[in-house]
Amino acid sequence: SSTVSAFKIADVSLAEAGRHQLRLAENEMPGLMALRAEFAESQPLAGARIAGSLHMTVQTAVLIETLVALGAQVRWASCNIFSTQDDAAAAIAVGPTGTPESPAGVPVFAWKGESLEEYWWCTEQIFDWSAEAAAAGEAWSGPNLILDDGGDATMLVHKGREFELAGVVPVTTDADSHEYGVVLAALRRSLETSSDRWTRIAEALTGVTEETTTGVHRLYELAAAGQLLFPAINVNDSVTKSKFDNKYGIRHSLPDGLNRATDVLIGGKVVFVAGYGDVGKGAAEALRGQGARVIVSEIDPINALQAAMDGFQVARIESVAPQIDIFVSGTGNFNVITTEHMLRMKHLAIIANVGHFDNEIDMAALESLDGAVRIEIKPQVDEWRLPSGRSVLVLSEGRLMNLGNATGHPSFVMSNSFTNQVLAQIELHCYREKYPVGVYVLPKHLDEKVARLHLDALGVELTVLTPEQSAYIGVPIEGPYKVDQYRY
Ligand code: NAI
Repeated sequence: SSTVSAFKIADVSLAEAGRHQLRLAENEMPGLMALRAEFAESQPLAGARIAGSLHMTVQTAVLIETLVALGAQVRWASCNIFSTQDDAAAAIAVGPTGTPESPAGVPVFAWKGESLEEYWWCTEQIFDWSAEAAAAGEAWSGPNLILDDGGDATMLVHKGREFELAGVVPVTTDADSHEYGVVLAALRRSLETSSDRWTRIAEALTGVTEETTTGVHRLYELAAAGQLLFPAINVNDSVTKSKFDNKYGIRHSLPDGLNRATDVLIGGKVVFVAGYGDVGKGAAEALRGQGARVIVSEIDPINALQAAMDGFQVARIESVAPQIDIFVSGTGNFNVITTEHMLRMKHLAIIANVGHFDNEIDMAALESLDGAVRIEIKPQVDEWRLPSGRSVLVLSEGRLMNLGNATGHPSFVMSNSFTNQVLAQIELHCYREKYPVGVYVLPKHLDEKVARLHLDALGVELTVLTPEQSAYIGVPIEGPYKVDQYRY
């Protein structure tokens, strides 16, 4: 395991508090703990150098220590400027056997409240393995695997190589979004010192395992354009990921974020949920459970029909904006909530995004709106006074508020997601010949394995097929139980 412990976090003295949280989380993450037991001896991730970019939370800390327990070396950054839990980051930097004075953990570069410049600096650090390489007496100093959430780490490699091949140092222009401009600036820095760094990193990568819907979209786009540089496993579309984390995770962490940010009573309020995919379904169910009247919007007739059949009014935002108390967006699309909508909102309507990027809410337009004034109520809660004479409350500056205003999804559901992540890392590392460049999902027997590992903890008594029943429906007693196109 890694003995290179240069890191950058908020406060190393939080390690003990973080370690307590980790111990409790381990008890709620049976899938990850089962993998530690199963693979303790065989060490399938020996030789893996994983560049991780995923919310640096308590649950992610248990994931990181599982990867290390399976033999991997790891460098880590968060994939969102507000999502780091500083105590978890400290526990990871110090490690289970280190002390704040003599840390012996994983190089982690993450703190709550990074600037965008700092964010891309942290992401660059997970690709710089010179300390590990020096310790091992090796010349090459890059990772061989990426574990990504939203695709920023993967994009950095692709963009870097693109600019190296073109032989140009990228210039930021006004047309670029602020965020993209910062990426280009980071790349310009590294292109000034090397003309083939990202090309070599891309060549050395066995692949990436991607956590979320938005990152998976980016991967399929790259593959379709023939530009994907290494194999990718789409972890999101394991059934035990998107049908659990995206839905039941949001059902827990969305109300958690709303409560911690505003403590406004949800019962009786009119709430708008944009998008009725996995995330939207969890959001709508949670808010209805609190007694809110929920209105859903969709572009897809199938999801719109589902929402209607589940008993929700389905409407366009422009038809209902003035009557809504809380707006939630979970589409993965952009400009879903615009300043035009905001100007028609009730006084102190709450705007909460749970889709991956902040552009679901047109924050750029809000920031440049004539006469709009921002007042920070507390960190990650801003009142925006609008020229309408009314205010809106924007949570986490339009970014993932379940992570920015609360602590993300709870451990048990993340154990499902992260058990898929670990299995996907093992697949790429141990069986690379099975995965030519392309985007894959894990085979169904592994998906079923992830679910199975979580049944005992919930006292689930699973029925076992009799040999006769198995023959009758043509399904093996030990699975897989469903055809690949089954939708659950
Ligand atoms: P999904 O594809 O299942 O659902 C998105 C839905 O939004 C689709 O049904 C689509 O038709 C709809 N949609 C697209 N544009 C729309 C528009 N303009 N208005 C209304 N509806 C629209 O995707 P999923 O898994 O629900 O993920 C959604 C987003 O949430 C992604 O960005 C994903 O990365 C993110 N995510 C966030 C999590 C969190 O912890 N906050 C957890 C998991 C996913």
